[in-house]
Amino acid sequence: MSRRRASANQQPDVVGQVDSVRHIPTPALLCDLDLLEGNIARMAALTTSAGIGLRPHAKSHKSATIARLQLDAGAVGMACAKLSEAEAIVDQLRTDGYPRRVSTLLTSPLASADAAARALALAARCDLFVVVDHPDGVDELARAASTSDARLSLLCDVDVGLSRTGVVGPDAALSVVDRIAEHSTLTFAGVQGYGGHLQHIAGREQRRAATAASTRQLETVIDALESHGHAVSMRTGGGTGTANIDIDLGVLNELQTGSYVFMDREYRDALGDDPEGQYRHSLTIATTVISANHEDFVTVDAGLKAMATDAGAPLVVGHEATSTYHFFGDEQGMITNSEAHPFRRGDRVALIPPHCDPTVDRYDVLWFVRHDVVEQVVQITARGCSQ
Ligand SMILES: Cc1ncc(COP(=O)(O)O)c(C=O)c1O
Repeated sequence: MSRRRASANQQPDVVGQVDSVRHIPTPALLCDLDLLEGNIARMAALTTSAGIGLRPHAKSHKSATIARLQLDAGAVGMACAKLSEAEAIVDQLRTDGYPRRVSTLLTSPLASADAAARALALAARCDLFVVVDHPDGVDELARAASTSDARLSLLCDVDVGLSRTGVVGPDAALSVVDRIAEHSTLTFAGVQGYGGHLQHIAGREQRRAATAASTRQLETVIDALESHGHAVSMRTGGGTGTANIDIDLGVLNELQTGSYVFMDREYRDALGDDPEGQYRHSLTIATTVISANHEDFVTVDAGLKAMATDAGAPLVVGHEATSTYHFFGDEQGMITNSEAHPFRRGDRVALIPPHCDPTVDRYDVLWFVRHDVVEQVVQITARGCSQ
């Protein structure tokens, strides 16, 4: 039996039982189904009423089950960060009997002949769109496409200020898109402009101004491509922190938001009550107080290994204003007691993760919970799939 399957079946008998949430071995990643469904519906309604497509980024949840909930709620497809992430989720959806080919966008460029060959193999199993930001990347994919019957569409990845990937400026974009047009085996589908540096800017006006400036960079590229005869039909980008602003600016016709399904402490700090911050914290880390021998604090069983730590400490659910969490080593955390609420040995304490995406990647399964009842134990399908 594989490691993943063993973990999913640790407590199969708790599913559906009253109060079963209390029997989940901790630390564990829990997802409140009411809140998850509300978040999925809210983002779907936002994009539908704006008349644009929603292509949720699967890097946040890495789960075929959640991807399917998003598709069933009207998403035009999904975005994936890495080839192996896309391979795992596409194949699981097929195994689960999802009735359509999934439109799948790979949002990071590839950079080897081996990766190009894998992309073409994947393109046989879904409608695949891949971003490119260099003519050599186009050639690699064209060579792989020449030996395959699968169809592949390419998007030009445009650097809108993040500087992580993407062509810089209209001339570089033209050289990439002209190269795509030289290959009859490839189709040019449009552009991606993802402003990761914008998403957590605190203060709506500041975030809006910075997003408007980045979007102008994307528009300049689109104008240049179109004036050279390249139809730019797909214009994809955006994240949870800029979603409503992207809609107002009206350049993107597809949003690739990811974190809205779960939200996290980092987003809560940045967005507050802004329209982009209206999604609920559906994801928590369940922990247990394992030692309570001090007046001021207790020790819980979730430490550095239980969550990504790049964004600081988690919040203590229900005690946000009175108790704080501190990392207490690899395996443990400290939670301060307050006069109003001293925690006791054996108590269960829920934490809001500081940063959802890399936290999810640390767990094999997600426990879907509704009103203290475990409804489903869901595989994190693409856990560790970063290749
Ligand atoms: C290329 C790309 N698109 C979309 C997203 C989704 O952004 P968010 O999780 O902030 O909604 C990300 C997240 O890192 C990303 O890298």
